[in-house]
Amino acid sequence: MSVPLLEVRNLECFYGPVMALRGVSLDVPEGKTVAVLGGNGAGKTTLLRTVSGIMDPEKGEVLLSGVPIAGIEPDRIVRSGLVHVPEGREVFPLLSVEENLEMGAYTRRDGGVSEDAAAVFDYFPVLRERLRQPAGTLSGGEQQMLAIARALMARPRIMLLDEPSLGLSPVMVRDIFAIIRRLKEERGVTMLLVEQNATMALDVADFGYVLENGQIALDGPAERLKRNADIREFYLGARTVSPRGDRRWKRRKTWRS
Ligand SMILES: Nc1ncnc2c1ncn2[C@@H]1O[C@H](COP(=O)(O)OP(=O)(O)O)[C@@H](O)[C@H]1O
Ligand SMILES: [Mg+2]
Repeated sequence: MSVPLLEVRNLECFYGPVMALRGVSLDVPEGKTVAVLGGNGAGKTTLLRTVSGIMDPEKGEVLLSGVPIAGIEPDRIVRSGLVHVPEGREVFPLLSVEENLEMGAYTRRDGGVSEDAAAVFDYFPVLRERLRQPAGTLSGGEQQMLAIARALMARPRIMLLDEPSLGLSPVMVRDIFAIIRRLKEERGVTMLLVEQNATMALDVADFGYVLENGQIALDGPAERLKRNADIREFYLGARTVSPRGDRRWKRRKTWRS
């Protein structure tokens, strides 16, 4: 059997004394979409930042096609085919849409960049209309599209998406997820998607993990997680919300039963 494209083994991460990841392991097979679900502060962003080399883990391994990449410079990780669309859709606000897309292709040495731009506009036609516009003047949803489009310009083997639905209107969330689904189905893009929006994420994902307090609390095929009572309760609205607005998984004692 071939190794998964991405393997995360027992990652432990700290911010000073705060332990943000407590031994996280997961696999992302080639061509699949894997969702990591979890509320605020669960460790989702820390996981993606560690996988893409922005943060160094205290312990554990990240393997891309079986090759360890933890601790390697982020730009070398991009060159090896892994791109990260960060939380909060960090586009370059003063650069035009076109210049942002060119930045995404900076690791490319081949001549296929203009063809890829054409393919990207097929998925994101609105970006073609806004080509000369500074990215900072786009709407939130358009900026999210640009962030994903820019990542695609690197022709990645695997794309990490950090909460693409965050702060977007329900209509825009549907549009973004429709594009994510097309990228998966038409182009076979492998994805590791972290989300609080379990409904959308499990709809597109093949497999899911639930992250809570820096640990995997539950995992399984997306179809099975969708039927899981705890997850249904979480995403159908019957969840507890703390005074700080944090979502908490309600019946966590039942996770492992
Ligand atoms: N820069 C930071 N400094 C200190 N603690 C942090 C920092 N970033 C995140 N944390 C803490 O690490 C934990 C995980 O955060 P994060 O990975 O951002 O979670 P999520 O993306 O799931 O909301 C939280 O307890 C958070 O407060
Ligand atoms: Mg986050």
